[in-house]
Amino acid sequence: MLPETALFKSEPTSNLTNFEVKDEDLPEFRDMRFENINELHLDHPGASDEDYRRRRDYIASLSKNFRETGTITDVEYTKQEQAIWRTVATRLEEIQSRRASTFYLDAKEKLGIGTERIPQLSEMNKRLNKLCNFRLAPIEGLVETRGFLSWLSYRTMLCTQYIRHHSRPEYTPEPDIVHEAIGHIPNFTNCDFADFSQFIGHGARIATDAQLEELGRLYWFTVEFGLVEENGELKAYGAGLLSSFGELENAFTDNVERRPFDLEQVINTPYEYSDMQPILYVIPSYAYLKETTRKYIESFSRSVVF
Ligand SMILES: [Fe+2]
Repeated sequence: MLPETALFKSEPTSNLTNFEVKDEDLPEFRDMRFENINELHLDHPGASDEDYRRRRDYIASLSKNFRETGTITDVEYTKQEQAIWRTVATRLEEIQSRRASTFYLDAKEKLGIGTERIPQLSEMNKRLNKLCNFRLAPIEGLVETRGFLSWLSYRTMLCTQYIRHHSRPEYTPEPDIVHEAIGHIPNFTNCDFADFSQFIGHGARIATDAQLEELGRLYWFTVEFGLVEENGELKAYGAGLLSSFGELENAFTDNVERRPFDLEQVINTPYEYSDMQPILYVIPSYAYLKETTRKYIESFSRSVVF
């Protein structure tokens, strides 16, 4: 029997060594089901700005259309939105040149993610598809953990397209195009990372609620706040670090305890969304992360009766 929370009509194979996904395996995007999709929160810097709300709703509506048509609509970003991007991307680029993994820096260049203009999901998608058969799908807001992670099992990441409010270029309480394009997307040009993400996706679809909580922690301490050892130096690859000036600088100070990655410890370490992260985990390589996660998720599938 499958868990009640299974999200798709066809369920994934439990054999994780066979993780190839063909185009015909991909479910219809219109079949995406979520318990809820996050609306703009009252503590968002743009919450009382009517123009911002309207604009965010419009861009979100393009993402909703995607679910019906399966086609990504490019956003014609305004001058103000492009200016926010330039401000944030330029400042991040300087810090990243010292702190980001060299793999990530190359990937950003390969994907054409620069400081001058906001990249479109459609153009990055084409390149990701060719490199590691990965894809992006627009989404209009934050969705619940199982629904979000489950799409990774189809090598698909749900991404927002709107941008943060101009009054606080350094801050956003929700994912925006800066967080997605500068934080997450370059990592999917690494096939080990893309495979690892897919394993998390498989896991989310068959996890008990307790296992899902563990997966959330694994995702947090790797995809969002991971560090990697590269030629004897520590570098950032997590999206929450790479898309935040404060977190990226803080990660390398004495405020943070940097621990070697230990899966058992990671999945049992709680975290806070809002505070600066006091503990970070360092992976020795993306291949190590992938293989460790494969074994972990395989232990889930042994406990599920198909
Ligand atoms: Fe994120």
